[in-house]
Amino acid sequence: MKTVLLTHPLPPDWISLLSGRVNLLAGREEIPGWRDDLLAALPQAEGILSLLTARVDESILVRVPKLKVVSNMAVGVDNIDVAACTKRGIPVGNTPGAMTDATADLTISLLLAAARHLPESSRDAREGRWSTWSPTGWLGADLRGATLGIIGLGKIGSAVAERARGFGLRIVYWEPAPSVDAEATKGARYLPLNELLATSDFVSLHCPLNESTRGLIDESALRKMKPAAILVNAARGPIVDTDALVRALSENWIRSAALDVTDPEPLPPDHVLYSLQNCFIVPHIGSATFGTRKRMAEMACENLLAGLEGRQLPNCVNPKVYK
Ligand code: DGY
Repeated sequence: MKTVLLTHPLPPDWISLLSGRVNLLAGREEIPGWRDDLLAALPQAEGILSLLTARVDESILVRVPKLKVVSNMAVGVDNIDVAACTKRGIPVGNTPGAMTDATADLTISLLLAAARHLPESSRDAREGRWSTWSPTGWLGADLRGATLGIIGLGKIGSAVAERARGFGLRIVYWEPAPSVDAEATKGARYLPLNELLATSDFVSLHCPLNESTRGLIDESALRKMKPAAILVNAARGPIVDTDALVRALSENWIRSAALDVTDPEPLPPDHVLYSLQNCFIVPHIGSATFGTRKRMAEMACENLLAGLEGRQLPNCVNPKVYK
Protein backbone atom coordinates (compact mmCIF):
# COMPACT_ATOMS: atom_id res chain seq x y z
CA MET A 1 0.00 0.00 0.00
CA LYS A 2 1.18 3.50 -0.80
CA THR A 3 2.16 5.76 2.07
CA VAL A 4 0.25 9.02 2.43
CA LEU A 5 1.03 11.80 4.87
CA LEU A 6 -1.95 13.66 6.28
CA THR A 7 -0.48 16.81 7.80
CA HIS A 8 -3.14 17.21 10.52
CA PRO A 9 -5.77 15.02 12.12
CA LEU A 10 -9.21 14.69 10.48
CA PRO A 11 -12.27 12.78 11.73
CA PRO A 12 -12.14 9.20 10.39
CA ASP A 13 -15.57 9.39 8.74
CA TRP A 14 -14.42 12.35 6.63
CA ILE A 15 -11.56 10.34 5.16
CA SER A 16 -13.22 6.92 5.04
CA LEU A 17 -12.51 6.78 1.29
CA LEU A 18 -8.87 6.13 2.17
CA SER A 19 -9.46 3.31 4.58
CA GLY A 20 -7.83 0.06 3.51
CA ARG A 21 -6.46 1.75 0.38
CA VAL A 22 -3.43 3.63 1.67
CA ASN A 23 -1.00 3.47 4.54
CA LEU A 24 -2.01 6.70 6.24
CA LEU A 25 0.39 8.50 8.58
CA ALA A 26 -1.40 11.42 10.17
CA GLY A 27 -0.21 14.36 12.22
CA ARG A 28 -1.67 14.10 15.69
CA GLU A 29 -1.88 17.67 16.85
CA GLU A 30 -3.73 20.74 15.77
CA ILE A 31 -0.67 22.90 15.31
CA PRO A 32 0.39 24.74 12.18
CA GLY A 33 3.25 23.27 10.16
CA TRP A 34 4.78 19.79 10.09
CA ARG A 35 5.41 17.46 13.02
CA ASP A 36 8.85 15.89 13.22
CA ASP A 37 7.49 12.33 12.84
CA LEU A 38 5.81 13.26 9.57
CA LEU A 39 8.94 15.00 8.34
CA ALA A 40 10.85 11.81 9.06
CA ALA A 41 8.37 9.84 6.94
CA LEU A 42 8.69 12.08 3.88
CA PRO A 43 11.10 9.71 2.02
CA GLN A 44 8.43 6.94 1.92
CA ALA A 45 5.49 9.15 1.01
CA GLU A 46 3.77 8.92 -2.36
CA GLY A 47 0.97 11.31 -1.47
CA ILE A 48 0.52 14.36 0.75
CA LEU A 49 -2.90 15.39 2.01
CA SER A 50 -2.30 18.86 3.40
CA LEU A 51 -4.31 21.38 5.33
CA LEU A 52 -3.76 25.05 4.56
CA THR A 53 -1.72 25.38 7.76
CA ALA A 54 1.16 23.26 6.39
CA ARG A 55 3.50 24.66 3.76
CA VAL A 56 4.47 22.34 0.94
CA ASP A 57 7.45 24.04 -0.66
CA GLU A 58 10.91 23.18 -1.98
CA SER A 59 12.17 22.35 1.51
CA ILE A 60 9.53 19.60 1.71
CA LEU A 61 9.48 18.53 -1.94
CA VAL A 62 13.21 17.73 -2.05
CA ARG A 63 12.61 15.17 0.70
CA VAL A 64 9.78 13.26 -1.05
CA PRO A 65 11.37 11.52 -4.04
CA LYS A 66 8.40 9.19 -4.61
CA LEU A 67 5.74 11.91 -4.44
CA LYS A 68 2.89 11.48 -6.95
CA VAL A 69 0.30 13.96 -5.69
CA VAL A 70 -0.30 16.84 -3.32
CA SER A 71 -3.93 17.21 -2.33
CA ASN A 72 -4.85 20.33 -0.37
CA MET A 73 -8.03 20.37 1.70
CA ALA A 74 -8.88 23.94 0.67
CA VAL A 75 -9.69 25.89 -2.42
CA GLY A 76 -6.76 28.26 -1.76
CA VAL A 77 -3.37 26.77 -2.53
CA ASP A 78 -1.14 29.62 -1.38
CA ASN A 79 0.45 27.25 1.18
CA ILE A 80 1.77 25.16 -1.69
CA ASP A 81 4.56 26.04 -4.08
CA VAL A 82 2.52 25.04 -7.12
CA ALA A 83 5.25 26.07 -9.56
CA ALA A 84 7.74 23.79 -7.83
CA CYS A 85 5.25 20.90 -7.94
CA THR A 86 4.55 21.55 -11.62
CA LYS A 87 8.27 21.55 -12.38
CA ARG A 88 8.44 18.08 -10.85
CA GLY A 89 5.32 16.92 -12.72
CA ILE A 90 3.35 16.57 -9.49
CA PRO A 91 -0.36 17.39 -9.73
CA VAL A 92 -1.83 19.58 -7.00
CA GLY A 93 -5.48 19.17 -6.03
CA ASN A 94 -7.85 21.56 -4.29
CA THR A 95 -11.51 21.62 -3.29
CA PRO A 96 -13.34 24.34 -5.23
CA GLY A 97 -17.07 24.75 -4.73
CA ALA A 98 -17.29 22.81 -1.49
CA MET A 99 -16.99 25.88 0.70
CA THR A 100 -18.71 28.46 -1.52
CA ASP A 101 -22.00 28.71 0.38
CA ALA A 102 -20.49 28.48 3.85
CA THR A 103 -17.91 31.18 3.08
CA ALA A 104 -20.48 33.44 1.44
CA ASP A 105 -22.77 33.01 4.47
CA LEU A 106 -19.93 33.90 6.82
CA THR A 107 -19.00 36.93 4.72
CA ILE A 108 -22.52 38.26 5.00
CA SER A 109 -22.45 37.53 8.73
CA LEU A 110 -19.26 39.56 9.08
CA LEU A 111 -20.68 42.38 7.00
CA LEU A 112 -23.86 42.51 9.08
CA ALA A 113 -21.99 42.16 12.36
CA ALA A 114 -19.72 45.07 11.50
CA ALA A 115 -22.50 47.19 9.99
CA ARG A 116 -24.73 46.76 13.05
CA HIS A 117 -22.05 46.68 15.79
CA LEU A 118 -23.00 43.20 16.98
CA PRO A 119 -19.72 42.44 18.80
CA GLU A 120 -19.53 45.77 20.64
CA SER A 121 -23.24 46.03 21.46
CA SER A 122 -23.32 42.45 22.71
CA ARG A 123 -20.28 43.17 24.89
CA ASP A 124 -21.94 46.36 26.18
CA ALA A 125 -25.11 44.46 27.12
CA ARG A 126 -23.17 41.72 28.88
CA GLU A 127 -20.96 44.21 30.74
CA GLY A 128 -23.74 46.40 32.14
CA ARG A 129 -23.73 49.28 29.66
CA TRP A 130 -27.35 48.69 28.50
CA SER A 131 -29.04 51.26 30.72
CA THR A 132 -31.92 52.19 28.44
CA TRP A 133 -33.26 51.92 24.87
CA SER A 134 -31.13 54.66 23.47
CA PRO A 135 -32.44 56.34 20.32
CA THR A 136 -28.92 57.21 19.28
CA GLY A 137 -27.10 54.22 20.72
CA TRP A 138 -25.23 51.66 18.60
CA LEU A 139 -26.32 53.21 15.32
CA GLY A 140 -25.15 51.21 12.35
CA ALA A 141 -24.98 51.40 8.58
CA ASP A 142 -28.03 50.99 6.34
CA LEU A 143 -27.73 48.27 3.74
CA ARG A 144 -30.53 48.98 1.26
CA GLY A 145 -29.21 51.26 -1.43
CA ALA A 146 -25.61 51.05 -0.18
CA THR A 147 -22.84 49.80 -2.47
CA LEU A 148 -20.94 46.59 -1.97
CA GLY A 149 -17.63 46.41 -3.83
CA ILE A 150 -16.54 42.83 -4.41
CA ILE A 151 -12.91 42.20 -5.25
CA GLY A 152 -12.81 38.85 -7.01
CA LEU A 153 -16.11 37.76 -8.53
CA GLY A 154 -15.36 34.05 -8.66
CA LYS A 155 -17.52 31.37 -7.09
CA ILE A 156 -17.47 32.81 -3.57
CA GLY A 157 -17.65 36.47 -4.67
CA SER A 158 -20.67 35.64 -6.84
CA ALA A 159 -22.36 33.78 -3.99
CA VAL A 160 -21.81 36.84 -1.77
CA ALA A 161 -23.31 39.05 -4.49
CA GLU A 162 -26.34 36.77 -4.73
CA ARG A 163 -26.97 37.07 -0.99
CA ALA A 164 -26.21 40.81 -0.88
CA ARG A 165 -28.84 41.54 -3.53
CA GLY A 166 -31.43 40.25 -1.08
CA PHE A 167 -30.45 43.05 1.31
CA GLY A 168 -30.89 45.68 -1.40
CA LEU A 169 -27.17 46.33 -1.82
CA ARG A 170 -25.93 47.55 -5.18
CA ILE A 171 -23.06 45.39 -6.36
CA VAL A 172 -19.93 46.56 -8.10
CA TYR A 173 -16.86 44.43 -8.67
CA TRP A 174 -13.25 44.42 -9.72
CA GLU A 175 -11.42 41.34 -10.82
CA PRO A 176 -7.66 40.83 -10.50
CA ALA A 177 -7.81 37.87 -12.90
CA PRO A 178 -9.45 38.83 -16.19
CA SER A 179 -11.52 35.67 -16.57
CA VAL A 180 -14.87 36.48 -14.97
CA ASP A 181 -17.66 34.39 -16.35
CA ALA A 182 -20.20 36.91 -17.76
CA GLU A 183 -23.02 34.84 -16.24
CA ALA A 184 -21.52 35.29 -12.77
CA THR A 185 -21.69 39.08 -12.95
CA LYS A 186 -25.53 39.02 -13.04
CA GLY A 187 -26.05 42.73 -12.83
CA ALA A 188 -22.88 43.50 -10.87
CA ARG A 189 -21.16 46.48 -12.46
CA TYR A 190 -17.44 46.36 -13.22
CA LEU A 191 -15.44 49.28 -11.87
CA PRO A 192 -11.70 49.97 -11.96
CA LEU A 193 -10.23 49.18 -8.55
CA ASN A 194 -9.68 52.81 -7.51
CA GLU A 195 -13.24 53.70 -8.37
CA LEU A 196 -14.60 50.68 -6.54
CA LEU A 197 -12.62 51.63 -3.43
CA ALA A 198 -13.74 55.26 -3.58
CA THR A 199 -17.44 54.54 -4.05
CA SER A 200 -18.16 51.39 -2.04
CA ASP A 201 -19.75 51.47 1.40
CA PHE A 202 -18.59 47.89 1.95
CA VAL A 203 -15.54 46.30 0.33
CA SER A 204 -15.35 42.51 0.45
CA LEU A 205 -12.32 40.51 -0.66
CA HIS A 206 -12.73 37.21 -2.51
CA CYS A 207 -9.67 36.88 -4.73
CA PRO A 208 -7.02 34.20 -4.29
CA LEU A 209 -3.73 35.13 -2.64
CA ASN A 210 -0.93 35.20 -5.17
CA GLU A 211 1.91 37.53 -6.08
CA SER A 212 -0.46 39.96 -7.80
CA THR A 213 -2.89 40.20 -4.88
CA ARG A 214 -0.45 40.14 -1.95
CA GLY A 215 -0.74 43.55 -0.24
CA LEU A 216 -3.41 44.69 -2.71
CA ILE A 217 -5.20 46.53 0.10
CA ASP A 218 -2.31 48.66 1.21
CA GLU A 219 -2.10 52.17 2.62
CA SER A 220 -2.90 53.76 -0.70
CA ALA A 221 -5.96 51.54 -1.23
CA LEU A 222 -7.23 52.11 2.31
CA ARG A 223 -6.82 55.86 1.93
CA LYS A 224 -9.03 55.75 -1.17
CA MET A 225 -11.92 54.17 0.72
CA LYS A 226 -14.76 56.19 2.19
CA PRO A 227 -14.32 57.18 5.86
CA ALA A 228 -17.57 55.32 6.58
CA ALA A 229 -16.55 52.21 4.64
CA ILE A 230 -16.35 48.75 6.13
CA LEU A 231 -13.74 46.25 4.91
CA VAL A 232 -14.55 42.53 5.01
CA ASN A 233 -11.86 39.91 4.39
CA ALA A 234 -12.81 36.24 4.24
CA ALA A 235 -10.21 35.41 1.57
CA ARG A 236 -6.58 35.45 2.75
CA GLY A 237 -4.92 37.70 5.33
CA PRO A 238 -1.91 38.86 3.29
CA ILE A 239 -4.17 40.46 0.64
CA VAL A 240 -4.37 43.26 3.23
CA ASP A 241 -1.29 45.04 4.55
CA THR A 242 -1.83 44.55 8.29
CA ASP A 243 0.24 47.56 9.43
CA ALA A 244 -1.63 49.83 7.04
CA LEU A 245 -4.94 48.41 8.27
CA VAL A 246 -3.98 49.10 11.89
CA ARG A 247 -3.30 52.73 10.97
CA ALA A 248 -6.47 52.99 8.90
CA LEU A 249 -8.59 51.75 11.79
CA SER A 250 -6.76 53.71 14.51
CA GLU A 251 -6.91 56.95 12.54
CA ASN A 252 -10.42 56.35 11.14
CA TRP A 253 -9.53 56.39 7.46
CA ILE A 254 -12.28 53.74 7.29
CA ARG A 255 -15.02 52.92 9.79
CA SER A 256 -14.26 49.30 10.56
CA ALA A 257 -13.00 45.92 9.42
CA ALA A 258 -14.42 42.44 9.85
CA LEU A 259 -11.83 39.74 9.30
CA ASP A 260 -12.05 35.97 9.00
CA VAL A 261 -8.41 35.86 7.96
CA THR A 262 -5.37 37.80 9.12
CA ASP A 263 -1.67 38.20 8.51
CA PRO A 264 -0.07 36.65 10.47
CA GLU A 265 -2.39 33.73 11.03
CA PRO A 266 -3.19 32.76 13.69
CA LEU A 267 -3.10 36.32 14.98
CA PRO A 268 -1.21 36.30 18.33
CA PRO A 269 -3.46 37.16 21.30
CA ASP A 270 -1.50 40.35 22.04
CA HIS A 271 -1.80 41.71 18.50
CA VAL A 272 -2.83 45.35 18.29
CA LEU A 273 -5.74 44.56 15.94
CA TYR A 274 -7.59 42.93 18.85
CA SER A 275 -7.37 46.15 20.85
CA LEU A 276 -9.17 48.18 18.20
CA GLN A 277 -12.90 48.56 18.88
CA ASN A 278 -13.59 48.90 15.17
CA CYS A 279 -11.99 45.59 14.24
CA PHE A 280 -13.95 42.36 14.49
CA ILE A 281 -11.95 39.16 14.07
CA VAL A 282 -13.00 35.52 13.84
CA PRO A 283 -10.48 32.67 13.48
CA HIS A 284 -10.68 31.62 9.79
CA ILE A 285 -14.05 29.91 10.12
CA GLY A 286 -15.42 30.67 6.63
CA SER A 287 -15.79 27.01 5.72
CA ALA A 288 -16.47 25.77 9.23
CA THR A 289 -19.77 23.96 8.88
CA PHE A 290 -20.18 20.22 9.39
CA GLY A 291 -21.26 19.51 5.83
CA THR A 292 -18.70 21.78 4.20
CA ARG A 293 -15.64 20.52 6.03
CA LYS A 294 -16.66 16.89 5.44
CA ARG A 295 -17.17 17.55 1.72
CA MET A 296 -13.79 19.33 1.53
CA ALA A 297 -12.10 16.31 3.11
CA GLU A 298 -13.88 13.93 0.74
CA MET A 299 -12.86 15.97 -2.30
CA ALA A 300 -9.29 16.02 -1.03
CA CYS A 301 -9.39 12.21 -0.71
CA GLU A 302 -10.78 11.89 -4.25
CA ASN A 303 -7.94 14.02 -5.62
CA LEU A 304 -5.40 12.09 -3.59
CA LEU A 305 -6.56 8.66 -4.76
CA ALA A 306 -6.68 9.79 -8.38
CA GLY A 307 -3.11 11.04 -8.13
CA LEU A 308 -1.86 7.86 -6.49
CA GLU A 309 -3.54 5.76 -9.18
CA GLY A 310 -2.14 7.90 -12.02
CA ARG A 311 -5.55 9.27 -13.00
CA GLN A 312 -6.17 12.97 -13.65
CA LEU A 313 -7.24 14.71 -10.43
CA PRO A 314 -10.93 15.69 -10.47
CA ASN A 315 -9.82 19.16 -9.30
CA CYS A 316 -6.31 20.00 -10.34
CA VAL A 317 -4.78 23.49 -10.10
CA ASN A 318 -1.83 22.69 -12.39
CA PRO A 319 -3.32 20.62 -15.25
CA LYS A 320 -0.17 21.54 -17.21
CA VAL A 321 1.41 18.47 -15.63
CA TYR A 322 -0.74 16.29 -17.91
CA LYS A 323 0.44 17.90 -21.15
C1 DGY B 1 -10.12 27.54 1.61
O1 DGY B 1 -10.68 26.51 1.24
O2 DGY B 1 -9.18 28.04 0.98
C2 DGY B 1 -10.66 28.19 2.82
O3 DGY B 1 -9.89 29.24 3.25
C3 DGY B 1 -10.85 27.18 3.94
O4 DGY B 1 -11.63 27.77 4.92
